[in-house]
Amino acid sequence: MPSFVRVEMEDRLAIVAINRPDALNALNSAVLRELSMTIEHLSMAADVGAIILTGAGDRAFVAGADIKEMVGLSALEMRSFSEAGRRLGDTMAACNKPILAAINGYALGGGCELALACDIRIASDRAKLGQPEVNIGIIPGFGGSQRLPRLVGLGWASEMVYTGDAIDAATAERIGLVNRVVPAERLLEETKALARKILEKSPAAIALAKACLRSALEMPLAAGLDFETAAFGVVGSTKDKEEGMRAFIEKRKPTWKGA
Ligand code: COA
Repeated sequence: MPSFVRVEMEDRLAIVAINRPDALNALNSAVLRELSMTIEHLSMAADVGAIILTGAGDRAFVAGADIKEMVGLSALEMRSFSEAGRRLGDTMAACNKPILAAINGYALGGGCELALACDIRIASDRAKLGQPEVNIGIIPGFGGSQRLPRLVGLGWASEMVYTGDAIDAATAERIGLVNRVVPAERLLEETKALARKILEKSPAAIALAKACLRSALEMPLAAGLDFETAAFGVVGSTKDKEEGMRAFIEKRKPTWKGA
């Protein structure tokens, strides 16, 4: 069975590369399935604290959903294909660890949508991001019409989706589509450095923080605030809360238990 997803571990950091460079890492159903299973697996792995998602090769993060597969799909199959992308996005949102996109080149269509489903996006200065679906007679189907306007506002999302034009990394940074742009040769190191900074914190606190931040986009303010208050109670029950506060008072580095 071909493996389109490569996982490397560096201590508690999982580096996941979509590995189909000949097709610029385009997402077919097999890749979507493997990626969902990988994220699910990493979510449950106690020894993993953060995940970096990137594309194999030096040209593309992901150049979109696989057009060569989609061309032959019926309406119902198109719907199932979109559902597979939806499930992947849901799995990434539900993952109790931060997922950082290291955008190493083209992030088009499903690739831009995959980056949107991550928690943090770092782009190479060679990255190009876009939602070009209208160029091939379709619309975004892996969450782009919903996540893109939430991140960059309706105006920019409309321009990107209606024109299909890709934007460069600097523009993506300016409109908030990526957190920052770094030189291509430093992309992975910079993304790892950010991930390692997160790995220094209490895993329990990070997991609860992610759940709260995710709820911010999905709940009305009052419900979100209730959720945060409840999560604050939960974090108050952890050994890490005690350890973090004692370490501050005793002027030393905390040793997290992750509980
Ligand atoms: N689906 C399937 N195959 C894809 C693909 C996609 N989304 N994107 C690229 N590929 C394949 C190409 O067909 C080509 O395969 P081939 O060598 O068998 O012909 C290979 O990847 C390399 O791509 P190519 O187009 O030759 O590279 P390029 O440098 O000329 O152009 C892009 C790069 C990204 C601009 C161009 O590939 C492109 O526009 N891709 C489609 C982007 C898109 O519309 N995505 C959204 C889909 S919903």
